[in-house]
Amino acid sequence: MSNKQKAFDNLTKKNQLADLGGGEKRIQAQHQAGKLTARERIETLLDPNSFVEVDRFVTHRCSDFGMEDNKILGDGVITGYGTIEGRTVFVFSQDFTSFGGSLGEAFAKKVCKIMDLALKTGAPVIGLNDSGGARIQEGVQSLAGYGDIFLRNVLASGVVPQISVIMGPCAGGAVYSPALTDFIFMVENTSHMFITGPEVIKTVTHEDVSKEELGGAVAHNSKSGVSLLRGPNDEATLMMVRELFSFIPANNTENPPQQNSQDKADRLDEKLKDLIPEEPNKPYDMKTLIKSTLDENYFFEVGPDFAKNMIVGFGRYQGRSVGIVANQPMVLAGCLDIDASIKAARFVRFCDAFNIPIVTFVDVPGFLPGTDQEFGGIILHGAKMLYAYCEATVPKVTIITRKAYGGAYDVMSSKHLRGDINYAYPYAEIAVMGADGAVNIIFRKQLKESKSPDEARVKLSEEYREKFANPYKAAELGYIDEVISPENTRAKIIQALEMLKNKVDQNPPKKHGNMPL
Ligand code: HXC
Repeated sequence: MSNKQKAFDNLTKKNQLADLGGGEKRIQAQHQAGKLTARERIETLLDPNSFVEVDRFVTHRCSDFGMEDNKILGDGVITGYGTIEGRTVFVFSQDFTSFGGSLGEAFAKKVCKIMDLALKTGAPVIGLNDSGGARIQEGVQSLAGYGDIFLRNVLASGVVPQISVIMGPCAGGAVYSPALTDFIFMVENTSHMFITGPEVIKTVTHEDVSKEELGGAVAHNSKSGVSLLRGPNDEATLMMVRELFSFIPANNTENPPQQNSQDKADRLDEKLKDLIPEEPNKPYDMKTLIKSTLDENYFFEVGPDFAKNMIVGFGRYQGRSVGIVANQPMVLAGCLDIDASIKAARFVRFCDAFNIPIVTFVDVPGFLPGTDQEFGGIILHGAKMLYAYCEATVPKVTIITRKAYGGAYDVMSSKHLRGDINYAYPYAEIAVMGADGAVNIIFRKQLKESKSPDEARVKLSEEYREKFANPYKAAELGYIDEVISPENTRAKIIQALEMLKNKVDQNPPKKHGNMPL
């Protein structure tokens, strides 16, 4: 056999070995656990045959605990780039079959290499996480590796989209790389995230909690809000990631991709006239209104199970991507609370960082009262949303559908926070508070002295309503640009976004603001 032939055979052998990762047995165990392998996940996520692997033959340099005789090609992470709908993305996929996907020095260097390339070329990074965490045999070098990745996560934040998908264990400090990225997806039943696991919790606080209850997909999507998107298995979750990419640009200098839409810009929806009840306290489903206005009535909701009083997600008008933020009168009457404020603030900042216009639907009675909220810091958390809207320079279109009371009126993308076009329906109420509350305060004395206080209250409330329970005071002042009829909502939003498509606005130069964290 010629030396050349030997060299080719050697390459084939090495390639086959690299493909096997931690070996057939561990691949079988991975499948038995209901999980795809790191390579299968990449194949599922990316366009067919588009993946280009880098650092396929990297191995670790650890010589402690017998590790010098235990090397696996690739060292537990598959890295490279490929395309989603033809657009370049960088991917790292942690390989649980190889040292439990644990992260050592060489592993971290591979991840950093593709993160650096992504930042230089302006392409997103997707991390598929399935790992036992810091590689114990590598000690502080492993911790250094995490630090190197955290730094890059932060430097890339707001420059290229970063998406994390949790597809197995992700524990301890390892959770902080995903936490620094824009969106965390989780796979139901097979993924877990926590700082300290059930056993440590049991020892320290004597609480009994299962892995699933503590850090499963349902827990994080409904209780903590750490993850806002989840799928039933690996394939379905990766398909959701592909879909998310259809709404977002490759980096902060590009616009989101334009899609084709057959949906007419001036399509009316007469049903919307009846959607919103006359009684100000009767709930209705804001999602019906949102979907009715969007292209093909399609809404990609983010965080449907967390802070349900606040709706956020993506949709399109005339094929152009928008971020939707809306109060949900069906839950807590659409009040703003800590979770809702954080959910909306994060979403608004993502949209603003990546040139996605924001459309806000408002029906908000105010902030949720209570000691839980006050002691939990609603003052600072509510300010996050205010800050995010003020700071945002992307086109901002607002529709007040019914109530916009008090500070919450200001917060929800009002004219005063640089809302570009602010609409209201004819029965919108824009005021400091609702009629009954207002009358009880400003006419307290008269009501006390009145011979028939109930009658007086009704009369005064009516007077208040006539004055304030309509959008015209705000329209007189130019805070509302136009009072529109509900059936026209889609057409009016599209008209505004079309006018705003070349909008340029800037904030004063600064190192960075000091958002109330
Ligand atoms: C080295 C590890 C490892 C690790 C798992 N393995 N975790 N090797 N370092 N951290 C190896 C195992 O030895 C085993 O090797 C293989 O991966 C699969 O592990 P199993 O335990 O057999 O799998 P399973 O029963 O599914 O349990 C998975 C697991 C468990 C829950 C992840 O392995 C585990 O608890 N690992 C330790 C987790 C941990 O404490 N990590 C450090 C966290 S602190 P073989 O050869 O038998 O297949 C951290 C700090 C980050 O990460 C700091 C950032 C600042």
